[in-house]
Amino acid sequence: MKSVLLATAIFAWITIPVAADDQSLMKDAKSHFKPIPSLVPAVKDNAVTHDKVELGKMLFFDPRLSASHLISCNTCHNMSMGGDDNLETSIGHGWAKGPRNAPTVLNAVFNIAQFWDGRASDLKTQAKGPIQAGVEMNNTPKVVEETLLSIPTYVAKFKSAFPNEAQPVTFDNLARAIEAFEATLITPASRFDQFLEGKLDALDATEKTGLRLFVDKGCVACHSGVNVGGEAYYPFGVVEKPGADILPAKDRGRFEVTKTADADYVFRAGPLRNIALTAPYFHSGKVWDLKQAVAIMATSQLGTKLNDPEIEAITAFLCSLTGEQPRVELPILPVSTTKTPLPK
Ligand code: HEC
Ligand code: HEC
Repeated sequence: MKSVLLATAIFAWITIPVAADDQSLMKDAKSHFKPIPSLVPAVKDNAVTHDKVELGKMLFFDPRLSASHLISCNTCHNMSMGGDDNLETSIGHGWAKGPRNAPTVLNAVFNIAQFWDGRASDLKTQAKGPIQAGVEMNNTPKVVEETLLSIPTYVAKFKSAFPNEAQPVTFDNLARAIEAFEATLITPASRFDQFLEGKLDALDATEKTGLRLFVDKGCVACHSGVNVGGEAYYPFGVVEKPGADILPAKDRGRFEVTKTADADYVFRAGPLRNIALTAPYFHSGKVWDLKQAVAIMATSQLGTKLNDPEIEAITAFLCSLTGEQPRVELPILPVSTTKTPLPK
């Protein structure tokens, strides 16, 4: 009996401070991050309705939005692979290699703006870019509209998604429908989210150490909020510019958007949700190992050299940001007609 009491006392003495540490870690984390909501978020100027989401899903998977009829949004934002293509930089029309790594579409709805340089203010503006980009889908709004108008099922789907419009089949409405679908591509319930919501044992000891380091070393200054990043822009190389192998000189980031000297080599802080699924890393896609990406961030952004256990712990924490992947049922697309423009 006595030894049981003693053991209980020792046990309590050991565990209570640890639990208190966990409590304060959770409180700290709550002041920097927000969980991914379990419900689809509202989108500015675009009601997310069932019909719009269904249409947007078809468009997202339809390769006929590309000139070649070979490339869909899903080609580079593969819903089976974390919403990106896991290539250094994307390959588009005519096997052309684009200049940047494809970010994931998962949780993109929570980013302050779209693209590595934030040049599209929202998802509907963004969606019009790749369809027209020569190195991506190489098409024109006119041909896309002709294609959709040539397929009766699409005409009907646009009518039900945009019921109050006389001519609903437009490039703008295509972008709205895709945006509505993308708003559903959220990944709640990661172990990190469970921890934020009070389940203290959702993270293991190494992951908790990693979270503590992520906050205390200062990663959190740029990577915070619901997407653990994606909220603001910073120079890549605040303290020390990475070499040209990782930061190619010709891509000056936000400078091309604002044309101001202070935007030189400035990029959006990467949203780190599902980061374990989306190698390779950085806008150049030059780094395949998440541990190496963490080490580079410490030297380039914070002027700190992390030791191996610190890198391991932060990386373990980042892996706990993988959420429930959206279960997207593959849409069956309506067949082309004799009026559908042919692939080029
Ligand atoms: C050929 C590959 C390719 C295709 C096809 C493609 N994308 Fe992308 N996507 C990219 C690349 C590369 C970027 C990053 C470009 C940049 O930042 O300049 C990107 C960026 C994005 C982003 C921004 C994400 C973020 O975090 O900033 C979204 C959203 C997106 N694409 C959605 C789409 C949609 C919708 C389509 C279809 C209409 C599409 N993409 C077609 C390669 C592609
Ligand atoms: C001063 C702001 C800042 C700080 C501090 C910072 N980052 Fe970053 N982070 C960025 C920016 C900007 C990018 C995008 C870099 C680029 O252009 O590819 C980025 C990108 C990343 C990426 C790659 C994302 C992707 O999708 O490829 C990872 C991983 C990352 N950061 C982790 C960290 C970690 C871990 C720390 C702390 C050791 C940290 N960051 C500190 C601003 C910051």
